[in-house]
Amino acid sequence: MNDNLHQLRCIGCGAQIKGAEARPDFRCAVCGELFEVEFPGWSARKGPDRPNAGALKWLWRERRCSAEGLDQSGVWRFRELLPILDNFGSVVTLREGNTPLYRLTRAARALDIDQLYAKHQGMNPTGSFKDTGMTAALSVARERGFEWVACASTGNTSASMAAYAARAGLRSLVLIPDGKIAWGKLSQAMDYGAVTCQLKTDFDGCLRLLTQIVNQAPIYLLNSVNPYRLEGQKTPAFEIAEAFDWNVPDHVIVPGGNLGNSSALGKGFRELHELGLTARMPRISVIQAAGANPLVRSLEKSGGTKLEPVEAHTRATAIRIGNPASWRKAARVIEETGGWCLDVTEAEIAVAKAEIGAEGLGCEPASAVTLAGLKKLRAQGAIAASETVVLVLTGHTLKDADYTIDFHRGTLLSDEEKAGVEQQIEALRRDAVAMDPTAETVLAAMERSAR
Ligand code: F0G
Repeated sequence: MNDNLHQLRCIGCGAQIKGAEARPDFRCAVCGELFEVEFPGWSARKGPDRPNAGALKWLWRERRCSAEGLDQSGVWRFRELLPILDNFGSVVTLREGNTPLYRLTRAARALDIDQLYAKHQGMNPTGSFKDTGMTAALSVARERGFEWVACASTGNTSASMAAYAARAGLRSLVLIPDGKIAWGKLSQAMDYGAVTCQLKTDFDGCLRLLTQIVNQAPIYLLNSVNPYRLEGQKTPAFEIAEAFDWNVPDHVIVPGGNLGNSSALGKGFRELHELGLTARMPRISVIQAAGANPLVRSLEKSGGTKLEPVEAHTRATAIRIGNPASWRKAARVIEETGGWCLDVTEAEIAVAKAEIGAEGLGCEPASAVTLAGLKKLRAQGAIAASETVVLVLTGHTLKDADYTIDFHRGTLLSDEEKAGVEQQIEALRRDAVAMDPTAETVLAAMERSAR
């Protein structure tokens, strides 16, 4: 590794180590906390020695017209801010990133917000935001000569890892909670050839077991405790800033599960600001499901100094996590940007997901917590009508088709969960109807739906 350019710094005790010295579980040998990639050269580059912001912005945009694989990746086109490899020839890419930023016009009108956008990370090659982190960390695994990579997952990380490992010719091991992940994601891990173990435990149990395994065998851990994952996942922050011509939006809202993504986006915006590419950071808010809300509880109870693990329950299986690894990093991002952390109910998630679907975009349930959270923040007066808000949609709607179908059939939620929002739900439901193959019945169905 090119240790002249980067090192790892423990977020707990501040210990600094070389990249290659990290333990297999990426925990600090002194205090057990996680590491963050840092670039010592940057802090020395103050005043006139700063990178030429104008030249970088021009170069990154120009690369979008280049035919080179590295340039076509929405991660590696920002490679000046990702000096984590010795040799960019090690990069494993599926042309991730460069995802669309859509306007959410109907939701904006309903919430009386001028500028509301969705950064759709579900439009990545394997259908989730994990690809931006996977290209970074898996490239490091390849450069360091590993034959096996592994992750514990609620589904998306495993789908992404399996694909990138297959591209690189590496073997991959997936540990998933039995019966608790969406079929679309499970099918991807199989399709891309991972060794997939369904374990009778939850995500937190899978990650605990994998930590033991990587300490016993030469396997490269690709969960977001691996700090190189977060280096790739910081790049959507660059894309968002670029899309607003480097005037960052007022507010970015992210779902929270294991809390790597919020940490990574915060790091990305922080670096842009520190390097003088943007004038400020946006507020970053994290939304959790009410049944999987350890960070919300921790901020309420101890101001974010102590985690409050929970036994997690939510149909948004991607964020069914009770003991998130990166909670300290995420708490820091919320605090430094003045963001909020709150939770939303199963019914609020379901309604928000259907509304995002009705905008022609769609997303998986975990992504919809962002819109549900925005509604709450708006109702509390925390966000003004004049603010520019970006929701980060983390996964594609086809990842969890069962959830969508159950919602539209009316079988997703219990009566208790639906209480108070029955009408909203009925207005959004579009069930598929069985009927006779005649023009009259089809025209009658259209007529009924127009009412
Ligand atoms: N949204 C989706 C679609 C996810 O798959 C995840 C996490 C999150 C949000 C939360 O992101 O963990 O960085 O806070 N999925 C992981 C996985 C845990 O294994 O696929 P986070």
